[in-house]
Formats: sequence, structure tokens, C-alpha cells
Amino acid sequence: MRTQVGIIGAGPAGLLLSHLLQLRGIESVVLERRSRDHAEKRVRAGVLEQGTVDTLIAAGVGDRLRREGLPHQGIELRYGGAGHRIAFEKLVPGRAITVYGQQEVVKDLIAARLAGGGDLRFEVDDVALHAIDTDRPYVTFGGERLDCDFIAGCDGFHGVSRPSIPEGVLTEYEREYPFAWLGILARVKPSAEELIYARTSRGFALHSMRSSEISRFYLQVAPDEDIAAWPDDRIWAELRARLETVPGFVLATGEILEKGVTPMRSFVAEPMQYGRLFLAGDAAHIVPPTGAKGLNLAVADVRLLTEALAHWYGTGSGELLDGYSKACLKRVWRAQHFSWWMTTLLHTFDSDDAYGHRLQLSYLDYVTSSEAAAATLAENYVGLPYGSLE
Ligand code: APR
Ligand code: PHB
Repeated sequence: MRTQVGIIGAGPAGLLLSHLLQLRGIESVVLERRSRDHAEKRVRAGVLEQGTVDTLIAAGVGDRLRREGLPHQGIELRYGGAGHRIAFEKLVPGRAITVYGQQEVVKDLIAARLAGGGDLRFEVDDVALHAIDTDRPYVTFGGERLDCDFIAGCDGFHGVSRPSIPEGVLTEYEREYPFAWLGILARVKPSAEELIYARTSRGFALHSMRSSEISRFYLQVAPDEDIAAWPDDRIWAELRARLETVPGFVLATGEILEKGVTPMRSFVAEPMQYGRLFLAGDAAHIVPPTGAKGLNLAVADVRLLTEALAHWYGTGSGELLDGYSKACLKRVWRAQHFSWWMTTLLHTFDSDDAYGHRLQLSYLDYVTSSEAAAATLAENYVGLPYGSLE
């Protein structure tokens, strides 16, 4: 079997890449280890930057997003017994975020690829990459062989692409956090119109949503937290304790549809390329979810990769491909800093660290009282303009 670009992984990165390449007349095959059902039902984050929304609409996969996505003009930071709104309409006019579950993006992309005759293979076993440092790389899987011009490693943090790069080539940067997030999806009307990022001495909590009937919440928990220790009543009680901290706010509760614990990690592998293998999305970098950047970074990567590959196929020049990693990493590191900063600002670290606690409160007061500081948060949150390849 032969294709132009072999894509490993059918997450947002791999699927959008395949779709954008098709719009440029470039063929690809997507190889995914899990089932289609699994990919479409996996509940993860749900905040799309303005640029992500614009990208999906321009690529013709934004119809449902436009109908069902919830545009938000602000977020609330809640701490010390008060809520403070970061008003995007004033701080970053014309730019907003849209709340739309990442599995909805995945569903839309899978539907678009299949409608366009795309070759998506689910439940493929034993994917392995070969000859990536030659101009004839290939992928083997389940007894088959796929020859390609290029391989895109879009297989997430635990995929096979990054480990296929010989030892010593990549530099890896990492930070772990002494906590995880327990996330739930619940059948209940959101208790507020906007997202609430709450800092309390009991730990962080986040109020988010998916629709007028479905809410999404997160709680800071221990890194090795056992979900079995969190029956529904305990989750609601803890969410109430962390969110009902301002006068008049009442948390609506309902049936919990889904729960899980997500580890928090910051990670970057540099460069995002080796020979004919290009890494994109979580395969190359991870951010803690506090800044809501994971999916947005994946979209920014594959936009650039599409440009660079289209240039190669159009002109025969590898110049833009050579600049791929550097161009991506600029945005990646900005998002790394922003995500680390939001995480540091809002979580409870060592409860004995009174100095650290004071610093957090001082910065929260600054961000919620200085327009300049609030604008810094807002412009990073809604997403900075895209960079280009040199
Ligand atoms: N072979 C084939 N597929 C694989 C393999 C493998 N060995 N290993 C992993 N995969 C698949 C996973 O099953 C998954 O469907 O690769 C896909 C990777 O998808 P994501 O983890 O979603 O990564 P990415 O597409 O980079 O997504 C970026 O969007 O999913 C959100 O918030 C999430 O930050 C993430 C962002
Ligand atoms: C979500 O709705 O899942 C969500 C929102 C904001 C975040 C992370 C996750 O920072």
C-alpha cells in the first residue's frame, strides 16, 4: 500500500491534518489503534480558541460547531469570597472562546473524512515506523505495510512515533505537578453562564459546560487519587465547598454521566521532526488543562505542517518543512508558560508554604485589578495570532 502522508493517530491532530491535506490535494492514510466509537466518545477538554474555530470553519468542518458551540466572552476567577470577571469583549475585542467538546470536533472530522472518501483505519495493531531517516519511510501494522513520502506522528503522548526517534536526538523538557484533576460530566444545567476557575484552600475547582443541559466540572485531587474513593455524593459536596464561596451562588447538581482522573503534566520534546517523521499535537507536547490549550496547540501544529507539506509537493522545496519545528515550538512554549502559570496561580500546592500562598493571592489581586495584567491573561486564553513558517 502507498500514500503520500502516513498519519499515526486519529485524535484531533491526525484527523485535522488528514482533512487539511485533502483540501490541498494531498493523500493520506490515518492509522488508529482504538475503535471509532472510542475515539468519538472519549471526553476531554472543550475550549476552542478563536483561531481554532476560524480554522475549522474555513476547512468546512464548522457547521455543527457554529450551531451548537457556546461562544464565551469572558471567564470568572473566583477566590477569597468573590468572583472577578475577565472580560474578553473589553480586553481582546473581537476574540472569544467557544465551548465545544473535543469529541464533537473528532466526530465532525471523522464524518468529513469519511464523506470525502478518506482512508481511516481503526483498531489497527502493532503500528511500527521504519526508515524514517530515509526518503522512503514506511509503516507496518497488523501484517500490512504502508509506504509513504512522510509520516506524521499524531499519536499522543503514549504513542509509538516519538519513541521511534533514536535516542539522543530529542531533548525532553518536563514538569510534573503534585496533583491531578478529577473530571465529571453531569446531566445538569450549568450553574453560571461562564467558566469559573475557583481557587480555594481546599484546592482548585472548575465549573464548565457542554450545553444548556450538560455541565462539566473538575476538582484538584491527589496525583494518585483512586476514583473509587469518590462516590457521587462526595464529588458534589466537594464541588459545593469549592464553588459556593460567593454570596448567592448555588451549585445545581444532577446525574453524573462520566468521571475520571487526569494527570497533570507539562512536557515538550524538541525538535518536532526527525528525518521524514513530523510530530504534531500531544505526541510532541503536553500542557496541564488549566490553560485549555491542548487541542488548540494541535490545531496550530497541523496548520503549519499542512503548509510545509503543500509547499514541498508544490515546489519540491523542503525549506518550509525545515522550519516546521521551530515555528511550532514558538507557540508551544508560549502555551507552556501560560498553562504552567494558570496552574500555579490557581492550585493549592504545599499547604505549609505560606509564602507561596501569599504570592498567589497577590498575583490574583493584580490580574483582577490591573487592566494590563487581565489583558495578558485574556490574550493568551483566547489565543495569540498564528505564527508562520520562514
Ligand atoms: N498506533 C495508532 N494510534 C495510536 C497509537 C499507536 N501506537 N498510540 C496512540 N494512538 C492514538 C490514540 O488512540 C489517539 O486516538 O493516537 C491518538 C492521539 O490522539 P490525542 O491523544 O487526542 O492527541 P492529539 O490528536 O495530539 O490531540 C491533541 O486534543 O485530544 C485533545 O486535549 C487533547 O491535548 C489533546 C489534544
Ligand atoms: C472543559 O470544559 O473541559 C475545560 C474547560 C476549561 C479548561 C479545561 C477543561 O481549562
